[in-house]
Amino acid sequence: MSDTLFVQFVVKTFLSSKTSPLDHDDYVYGLVNGFSDTYDLCKQHGDFYWVDLDLNNRIKSAAATRKHCDQIGFPIDEGRAFVSCSYPGQLYQVYSWAKRYPNVSFIAGGNVVDVNKLAWNPDDIPKNMVVTAKSVEAYFGLPDWHHSWWIDPPKDLMNQKDHPVFFTYNLNNTCYWGKCNFCHYFDTNERVRPFYNLEFSQLPETDIFKMVCLYSPSISPKEISEVLPQLPDREDFFYRMYVRGSKDESDALMKAFQGRLNPELFEPFIGVEFPSKRMNDIINKGVDVKTMIKSINRLDRIGAKVSVGLILGLPDLIEADLDDLESFLTQLENNGNVSIKINKLFARWGTPAHDQYKEKSLWKLGPFYQGFNPVLTDSELDVNDRAYEMIEKSGITLMSNYKLIREVEKDPTQKHRLFSGIVGTEK
Ligand SMILES: C[S@@+](CC[C@H](N)C(=O)[O-])C[C@H]1O[C@@H](n2cnc3c(N)ncnc32)[C@H](O)[C@@H]1O
Ligand code: SF4
Repeated sequence: MSDTLFVQFVVKTFLSSKTSPLDHDDYVYGLVNGFSDTYDLCKQHGDFYWVDLDLNNRIKSAAATRKHCDQIGFPIDEGRAFVSCSYPGQLYQVYSWAKRYPNVSFIAGGNVVDVNKLAWNPDDIPKNMVVTAKSVEAYFGLPDWHHSWWIDPPKDLMNQKDHPVFFTYNLNNTCYWGKCNFCHYFDTNERVRPFYNLEFSQLPETDIFKMVCLYSPSISPKEISEVLPQLPDREDFFYRMYVRGSKDESDALMKAFQGRLNPELFEPFIGVEFPSKRMNDIINKGVDVKTMIKSINRLDRIGAKVSVGLILGLPDLIEADLDDLESFLTQLENNGNVSIKINKLFARWGTPAHDQYKEKSLWKLGPFYQGFNPVLTDSELDVNDRAYEMIEKSGITLMSNYKLIREVEKDPTQKHRLFSGIVGTEK
C-alpha cells in the first residue's frame, strides 16, 4: 500500500418511508466519492481506500459516534492521507485517526468543510490534521477540472444485487439563489464544472442499480439543458438532482424529457419548505407556492419521481399557515409519482436561521460545531405536529423522521430509537 492514501467513505443510506431505519432493510450504499473529479491525479500520487463508516445505522448519540470512530483503525502508520468527508461524523473520524496516528498527515476536505460550514478552533485539532476547503488540484498546484472523473466502488458492493450504489457527479457546489434562511450554500469556494464528459457512462452495464446524483445544491436551467440530453439512457442508472421549483427550471426539465430520456428514471428534489405565503416570505425561497405546485404537477404527470422537500419544527409557524398547507396538499395532483420528504429545521452555523432562532441542544461532535435545534413554544409545537398529521393524512408517500423525533422528545427513554445526526448532541 502506498504511503499516500485517498480515503472515501461508504455510508448506508435509508430511503424508505418507515420512520426508523432500524425497522427495515431498505437502503442504498452511499459512496462519498469526493476524489472522483480528480481520479487520475489521485491515482498518480497514491492509492484509494474505502472505509465503511456505518454511522446512520448503529450509532445513536455523539458519545456512541465517538466511541465507534475511536475503534476504527487506519491502514498505514506513516505517510499522508487525503480524506473526503460529507458528514460531521466522518470529520470526527479523521480527528480520531489524527490523534492515534501522529506520523500520518491528515488532510480533510469535502462537502462537510466546503459547504456544511462547521466551526472549530484550530488549536483544538491535532497538529498533523488540516481541515481545508482547497480543491485537490489546487493542493497539487494544478488548475481545477483538468482530470477525468472515475470511480472504483468497493468490489463487495458491486458483487451484491440487493442494494443500489449511490454516487455523485459534481456539476457545481453553489446555489445561484442562495438566500433561503436555513440554507448553508453561502460564501462557498465556487467550483463549477466547465464541460460534461459524463465518464460514468463507461461503467459496465450490470444488474446493480446505480443512483447518480447530478450534484448542485440547485441545478440551473442551463445545466439541465446542457447535461440531461447527453445522459446515457440505461436501465441500471437512476438520476437524482436538487432543483428549485421555479418556472425556468421546470421548462428546462420538460424540454429535456421531450427527447429520448425516460422521466421515470429521474428524481428531481424540489424544496417547497412550507407552502404558505407567509412562511415562504420568512424562509425567503424566492419562488411563489403556485409556481412550485405547477412545477411538481407537470413532472408528476410525465412520470418523474418528484420529491417534495418540506420543513417542520418551524418556530414561526402559526394556525393560519395550516389552511395554506391544506390547500397545497389538495392542489397536488399526485398521479402516484410524488413523495414528500420532511426535514426538521436545523439552525446551521452561519445561516440567517442561526441568528434568527433561540438555541436548544447545541450540535457539537468533538471540536466541530454545526448549529442547534431551535426552541419552539408549546403552541408552535402543536401547530407543527398538526401540520405533520395533515401531511400524513393526505395519503401522499411520506419519508420523514419528524414523528419519531417528536415521540422521543416527549419520552426520552425512547432515545435509543434515534440514529446519529439527529441526536449528535453534546455540550
Ligand atoms: C439542496 S436543498 C434544496 C433543493 C433546491 N435548491 C430547492 O431549493 O428547491 C436540500 C433540501 O434539504 C432541506 N434542508 C436543507 N438544510 C436544512 C436545514 N438546515 N434544516 C432543515 N432542512 C434543511 C430543505 O428541504 C432543502 O430544500
Ligand atoms: S434551499 Fe435551495 S434555493 Fe434555497 S438557498 Fe438552498 S439550495 Fe438555494
